[in-house]
Amino acid sequence: MSNVSAVRPTHKMHVTATDPLYASGPLVADRVGPSFDDRPYERFSVAPMTPTIGAEVDGIRLGGDLDEETMAELRRALLEWKVLVFRDQDIERSAHRAFASKWGELEEHPFIKYGKYPGQTDADVVTLERDVSVAGIENNWHHDVSWSRAPSFGAVLRAVEVPAVGGDTLFADTCAAYDLLPDAIKERIDSLVAEHDWVPNFGKSMTPDVIAALRPDYPAAQHPVVRVIPETGRRTLFVNTNFTQRILGVSEAESNELLTLLYRHVQRAEFQVRLRWRKDTVAFWDNRTCQHYAASDYYPQRRIMDRLSIVGDVPVGIAGSPVAQEA
Ligand code: SIN
Repeated sequence: MSNVSAVRPTHKMHVTATDPLYASGPLVADRVGPSFDDRPYERFSVAPMTPTIGAEVDGIRLGGDLDEETMAELRRALLEWKVLVFRDQDIERSAHRAFASKWGELEEHPFIKYGKYPGQTDADVVTLERDVSVAGIENNWHHDVSWSRAPSFGAVLRAVEVPAVGGDTLFADTCAAYDLLPDAIKERIDSLVAEHDWVPNFGKSMTPDVIAALRPDYPAAQHPVVRVIPETGRRTLFVNTNFTQRILGVSEAESNELLTLLYRHVQRAEFQVRLRWRKDTVAFWDNRTCQHYAASDYYPQRRIMDRLSIVGDVPVGIAGSPVAQEA
């Protein structure tokens, strides 16, 4: 037997093995909170993709004619699994829109408009075409439009054309991530508020004049770092690498330390699901309870997705009142 340790250099980690956030071992979270109405689904079948996040839903065709019982079960399934995946949905944009509209008012993205095809008339549909001429920009972990006073409730994304391989979307369960934080970290963050802004992100490709013109309509927003989901009382981490700028009321060093730690924690593999798209796959995610990351690894192949976003609420923190106000 060779003496491996004699030839390998000792690996120095930047964090210590005693740091509870980076210790190895089981990271097993509850999928739902104690108040969740945990009954079997009768209108469709649900196949889990991981223990806490992502489920393939089989047995329904998406559209505007889903009855109330099916909608109620889907609402429950979305709270339970955070990301619902529907395969083989050979549907038109009108059915996609009708399904998304059943969840609330649809919203237009103020900045992502470039993907619209000539002749595309649906104001609120964003066609994300990611080919060599338009670099994929969603490959950072984010909650959609968290810089808004009332970030999207969720999004329904339909795969129109996908590469043979690549272009997966990854989702991270921010409820499980919160639950598995050490108590000492929870105590530090539970009542904190963070500022979210679009300027350092979407503003990168804009001139100062354009940013100044947009600013009155799109100010920065402040949201609780730990958000509470009204239907379940579940706590979820609500900071992300794309849009969160800083935690308020602490030093810049502490804000950086906490954000770095929270981002690294959310990105642990145990909290993730990776969706491998096929044409006619539809994914519906709850933007409050998960973050996502679109892998930008498939050029020069094409990836065309139609995306609809649903208007959300002003986030509420543990204290029970919204802190969101425009900064
Ligand atoms: C997004 O970030 O909303 C796009 C996700 C994707 O294209 O997979």
